Parts: sequence; structure tokens; C-alpha cells
Amino acid sequence: MIRIAVAKGRVAKQAIKLFNEFGIYFSDYDTNRKLILDSDDGSVQMVLVKPSDTPIYVESGVCDCGIVGKDILLEDNPDVYRLLPLNIGKCRMCVCGYSGTDIHSMKQIVVASKFVNIAKGYFDQLGKDTRIIKINGSVELAPMLHMSDVIVDIVESGVTLKENGLSVLEEIVDIYSVFIVNKASLKMKHSLLKPFIDNLEKANERLLG
Ligand code: PRP
Repeated sequence: MIRIAVAKGRVAKQAIKLFNEFGIYFSDYDTNRKLILDSDDGSVQMVLVKPSDTPIYVESGVCDCGIVGKDILLEDNPDVYRLLPLNIGKCRMCVCGYSGTDIHSMKQIVVASKFVNIAKGYFDQLGKDTRIIKINGSVELAPMLHMSDVIVDIVESGVTLKENGLSVLEEIVDIYSVFIVNKASLKMKHSLLKPFIDNLEKANERLLG
């Protein structure tokens, strides 16, 4: 059996659609609150994890592979193979704040983010004197409550920003889900993983079309 770590929520729904494309079904999904689900044919076990925890389950080897956002790979740089970019989980990593905030004219800047390494890298490269505040969720609150000048965060539909009076100021990088594999598993479970990866790749291409 292949054990795969998948982020709970939006990405899991899209990942399951991708698996369905090559005959892997999880009929139990969404009917209960189980965190470990076996596929109907018993060939794949899906472990539903908090998105930012996905790499550690794969790096440690408790899961053979995983589906994780590029945002988390950029932030944590885990020691795993990044095998396949997927056509799911698409969004953008952006600097956001009140429209009219001119980050280029500011010498010092306070940034709130879940992604402190990405934020630091981006503002360092702009040569800014930056203070980063780590926030674990609802990051939009930071500029609204004047705790930071801007945020660095994921923007998908843009609705959260709009409904809170904020805008995209700069785009940093496009984000999408990536299929990652534990380095030892790729060798030890090659005969199981190879057909799974081939099927995933084909299903991913079909999703694009
Ligand atoms: C993410 C992100 C934004 C929102 C963007 O938060 O941090 O807040 O989604 O999506 P949108 O552009 O479609 O509105 P998430 O829902 O993961 O919750 P969190 O704030 O608890 O991290």
C-alpha cells in the first residue's frame, strides 16, 4: 500500500478528483471525520494533515509521498523529492495591504505573514529594513489593526482581501500543489510508486486539457 499525506480542505478535494481520474476512489471522504482513509481498492492510504505539516510526514518517511503547496516547500525547504508540479492548488503568493501603500518608497517596513522566510527573502532582495511578525492565520487582520504595514500571504479568489478592504500590492510567485516523495520510499517501494506516479502524471495532464 502507498501512504500519501494530503492537506485537509480545498487541496484534498482537488487531489481526490485527480485520483478518481485513474480509478482511485475514497468513498468514505466527507462522510466522517476520519484522518486516515483507505481507497476503495485498498491500494492507497490517504492521511489528512494540516497543510504546513505535510512535508514532515513525508520527510520522516511515515508517509511515502504527499501533495503539498509550493508555498510550503519554499518556506520550509524539506529534504524530499519534488517529482511533479500539479494543476491543482493554484494561487499566488503576494504582498497585500491598503491600496496606495508604496512599499518601494518605505525604508522600514513591518510585514505580517505565515511565511516568514518567503517574506524575509522578498524584502531583503528589495534592500528593505524589515521586521517580520509571524502570524498563523487570518493574516489580513494585521494591517487592519495597524500591527503591520503589509502582509505576505496566499491569494486565491481575492475575496478575503476584498471583503476586508485590502488589495494585492505585488505578486511574489505563482503557487500550485506539488507531488513530493520520500527519498527512501522511492527506492524501496519503486514497483508500487512507479505506476502510481505515471497514472498521476497522465491524470494531471488531462486536468490541464
Ligand atoms: C488563506 C489565505 C487567505 C485566504 C485567501 O487562508 O491565508 O486568508 O485563504 O483566499 P481567497 O483569496 O480565496 O479569499 P485560509 O483560508 O487557509 O485560512 P487561515 O487564514 O486560517 O490561514
